[in-house]
Amino acid sequence: MAEGSIVAGVLAPHPPHLVYASNPPQNEPKAECGWEVLRWGYERCSKDILAQKPDVFLVHSPHWMTVIGHHFLGLPHFKGLSVDPIFPNLFRYHYELNVDVDLSLMIAEEAKDLGLTTRIMRNPDFRIDYGTITTCHLMNAAWDIPIVSISSNNSPYYFSNEVGQQQMAVLGEATRRAVEKSGKRAVLLASNSMSHRHFVTEPEIPEDMSHEHVYHHGQYLWDMELLKLMKAGKAREMLDILPEFIEMTVAEVKAGALTWMLHALGVPDYPAEVYAYGTVIGTGNAVVAWHHEQNRQEVAAHG
Ligand SMILES: [Fe+2]
Repeated sequence: MAEGSIVAGVLAPHPPHLVYASNPPQNEPKAECGWEVLRWGYERCSKDILAQKPDVFLVHSPHWMTVIGHHFLGLPHFKGLSVDPIFPNLFRYHYELNVDVDLSLMIAEEAKDLGLTTRIMRNPDFRIDYGTITTCHLMNAAWDIPIVSISSNNSPYYFSNEVGQQQMAVLGEATRRAVEKSGKRAVLLASNSMSHRHFVTEPEIPEDMSHEHVYHHGQYLWDMELLKLMKAGKAREMLDILPEFIEMTVAEVKAGALTWMLHALGVPDYPAEVYAYGTVIGTGNAVVAWHHEQNRQEVAAHG
């Protein structure tokens, strides 16, 4: 069997507003429009990623939070209704998805070997979190590629950002090892927004874009600082300032998805492609891809 590889990693945020605004048949509430810059950026990113024919999407979501250890879905099929607890008026989504259980178990095994606590979720009625659903929908609305869904362990909240990020680095290493052994072509999805301060009242029409804007200039500057480092191929420097970024912007990256992904990619030193940046209820969201395989091919061709 040929060695598997990580084709790409994507910072793939999960505001339910983006699904709501695109009116897929699975979602009960219907919108007129909204958040086009982010949605169209996602569409371009999805097109580029799907063109690379991945076998599986691996998604790490802050909304499947587990107190003890890192959990993995362990059944081939899940079906249900996902309702956003904050925005039930925007997101009531009927999902049906397939899991690559073999790869799920392989990552869990590698993680265990590296000293992490792991557990496999085998409850057929388990409700998949809305972060996973939203990110996967926006990346592949056809749902015709299986996923591996990984929980976010609570260590950054119980201990510290530093301890949490260390755990995610190990989880990233375990993920890379398992993908290589699997022979599969995987795309990693870090289901995170960036700065996370937000408005507390919703306009009467949620998609009324005259209300949507940056929450605070300082938050925006932090987002731009991180995006500048991504575009410059400085993932290591970005990881170094991530604990401070998390403190200053109450960022969802605290839950570890971005750190997991960057470590699985070996902390990339090549520029990422930014497809879009925009706000959703004032929070910063960027769709950003590290085209890992393309970069390795370019390095091999040109040295
Ligand atoms: Fe979230």
